[in-house]
Amino acid sequence: MIRKYFLILIVFQVFQGYSQKFEELALTPPMGWNSWNKFGCNVSESLIMEMADAMAESGMRNAGYEYLVIDDCWQVGRDSLGNIIADPERFPSGMKVLVDYVHSKDLKFGIYSCAGSMTCQSRPGSRGYQFQDARTYASWGVDYLKYDWCFDEGQKAEAAYKTMSDALKASGRPIVFSICEWGESEPWKWGKGIGHLWRTTADIRDCYQCTFDWGGLGVLDIIDKQADLYEFAGPGHWNDPDMLEVGNGGMTPDENKTHFSMWAMLAAPLMAGNDLRNLDKATAEILMNEEVIAIDQDSDGHQARKFMDMGEYEIWAKPLAGGEVAVCFLNRTDEVWKLNYDWKKQTMYFAADVSIHQNVYKVKDLWEHKIIGKTDENLVKEILPHGSLLVRLSKLNK
Ligand code: GLA
Repeated sequence: MIRKYFLILIVFQVFQGYSQKFEELALTPPMGWNSWNKFGCNVSESLIMEMADAMAESGMRNAGYEYLVIDDCWQVGRDSLGNIIADPERFPSGMKVLVDYVHSKDLKFGIYSCAGSMTCQSRPGSRGYQFQDARTYASWGVDYLKYDWCFDEGQKAEAAYKTMSDALKASGRPIVFSICEWGESEPWKWGKGIGHLWRTTADIRDCYQCTFDWGGLGVLDIIDKQADLYEFAGPGHWNDPDMLEVGNGGMTPDENKTHFSMWAMLAAPLMAGNDLRNLDKATAEILMNEEVIAIDQDSDGHQARKFMDMGEYEIWAKPLAGGEVAVCFLNRTDEVWKLNYDWKKQTMYFAADVSIHQNVYKVKDLWEHKIIGKTDENLVKEILPHGSLLVRLSKLNK
């Protein structure tokens, strides 16, 4: 009888071990850097080492950017035993040495693969090799896996991602699992127990508003697609509106600030995608704005909701820990928005424990880093074209 009980217990534990992702990871949205947006397939050992140095020296690491992720094109084939092989010309020292180097800089290391037979750049994918690849990554010391969806060959996304999630779990190493299936089969509905973040759209393009017939979305279109997804985000499971384009040259300073402000409001993973070796002052000030990062990293893990939609003007609100709230006024137009906002006319509460009517809050502009008013007076401000105003409301001690 006792033996039978133990058997059931062991089977249960093994089942559990293989059926759940690693918990306690990504309790706030992951932050880091990824090679794709700037470098595409042009990745190498020297690039990644230089980027690790830059993350440490530029202040990015101290600002919270933790994961250094190599995207597509690091892999060239498999050996006779099926083990994945890194490009020996571009990564002559091998992945383990590179991972150790990144770890020596107090950073974590991320890698990329694909649920299909090939990656999006036609490199070997993990289909049929999931458990073997996961063991390899674990033996290298990988901390994060971005897992793409090209050449899926008719697989069901949920099952395919579950297999890799199980493989990572079985490897024994806690690895953040980033689901990258572009929102096609609504991963927010099934991703929570499988991965820690999931892409919600096609790839981001370095522009505020633009459309591509071959796929890809500008910042504004991506924001629009996040509006209904707020209920699916939370500690350990995030909607991922794709990596940052800040600093890549396609947007004006105000557009970049809007991009970064809204990603913070959306509790989005903050994966920088620019060349950190040449950080100009304006880009550094955006990516390392501690007060904006704090909105993104708020421990309650709420994603902002669109609180008010006035067509070309929008107001987004995000409840924060401790009864505070972040509010972002978004100007989609090519003209200045002459904001004259009466907080007291709110008919809806921003959050259960935030009442504009019963309390007075001070209003802090998180780009100017100063208090610009209180909620018992109108907020008067000019918001630049394609710009935004991001404020934090904290209760005034009366
Ligand atoms: C897909 C992903 C991108 C990037 C490329 C690499 O398009 O969505 O983020 O990883 O593949 O090939």
